[in-house]
Amino acid sequence: HEEFTKVKNIATIELGRYEIETWYFSPFPPEYNDSLKLYFCEFCLNFMKRKEQLQRHMRKCDLKHPPGDEIYRSGTLSMFEHFYITCGHLTVILRIWIRAAALAFLRRVVLKQVDGKKNKVYGQNFCYLAKLFLDHKTLYYDVDLFLFYVLCECDDRGCHMVGYFSKVRVYVSGYVAFRTIHAAYAEVECGLHGVMISIAGHRKRESDGRPKVFEAGGKWKCILHLMMQEKHSEESYNLACILTLPPYQRKGYGKFLIAFSAYELSKKEGKVGTPERPLSDLGLLSYRGYWTRVLLDILKKHKSNISIKELSDMTAIKAEDILTTLQSLDLIQYRKGQHAICADPKVLDRHLKAAGRGGLEVDVSKLIWTPYK
Ligand code: COA
Ligand code: NA
Repeated sequence: HEEFTKVKNIATIELGRYEIETWYFSPFPPEYNDSLKLYFCEFCLNFMKRKEQLQRHMRKCDLKHPPGDEIYRSGTLSMFEHFYITCGHLTVILRIWIRAAALAFLRRVVLKQVDGKKNKVYGQNFCYLAKLFLDHKTLYYDVDLFLFYVLCECDDRGCHMVGYFSKVRVYVSGYVAFRTIHAAYAEVECGLHGVMISIAGHRKRESDGRPKVFEAGGKWKCILHLMMQEKHSEESYNLACILTLPPYQRKGYGKFLIAFSAYELSKKEGKVGTPERPLSDLGLLSYRGYWTRVLLDILKKHKSNISIKELSDMTAIKAEDILTTLQSLDLIQYRKGQHAICADPKVLDRHLKAAGRGGLEVDVSKLIWTPYK
């Protein structure tokens, strides 16, 4: 994608009470190319070229928080969850036979498909905005499907977006070309054990017997993506993207988002997780800080021997991440023919101090969320 290498186009944005300098290129529609500054509605994320347009918009816009379900509230902090498929008209009837868990997962997702068009616009606006601060390629902006968790600071004027994380990848429309759909089809059929998909009236075969390639779009594509994500989540990625908007950075929100995404949600689902790679420099710094703090806090309190596996079970952090974190701190030692984790309290305290502040705490009792089951 050549867009990703393009130079920064929009220099600043206005969002709520902040004027924010942007970091990277974002692929706004061509009619915005001649603007250096854009004005965003902080609630619906519609963007405009002129301040007067925004003022007019604000008088009409009736949103006071991001669309979606509020899944966490503690003090002035709220988290909103979006889980929408926005594939437009359902012209095909899908019949899916799949493992029970995946079926229920899909059903829940499909049920959430309300008001698709509006949410699609929000999702697109969201991605345009996020891309201004993200350099890497895991962000796709023409969304058909997304799962975002938006963190807000709330006051009497509304809920103001602080940052977000996305839990699964977001796909570009048309990104899956015909050929890939074909491959994906095969992958889904063989990859997930015993999965059978049938699209009523559409399950045609080419003359050579291969399944016919479907149009790259619509519900079919969404379901494919979902299944691939199911696969993804079996590989235990619990975070695709994370962002704290610049005015809110270095205040502990990043660690809050990491703790929330990565571990509170994973722990509830009863699995270990890890962020998708590659991580940006700031992303890695934040994760390393978080992992160090969580692991060393346990090591300090734990009196007897503890294994990586036990640490992983307690924290939902993936074993490899535990190992690299401990190794980078030089805490894995080879003694008497065995690997051992160093637990010298003085050493641990020194590392904890270096790992920075703890960040905002996630109050698990304020989480109103049940996993997709
Ligand atoms: N310089 C040096 N260290 C930094 C830093 C900076 N500019 N920003 C974050 N850190 C490190 C610090 O160790 C910090 O802990 P400390 O403040 O206690 O020293 C730790 O990361 C996390 O800080 P925190 O305040 O919890 O995070 P944040 O709200 O600033 O958000 C990111 C962190 C990564 C989400 C944020 O920098 C961001 O949105 N970056 C742009 C998008 C991005 O790169 N995302 C990751 C993609 S994988
Ligand atoms: Na990422």
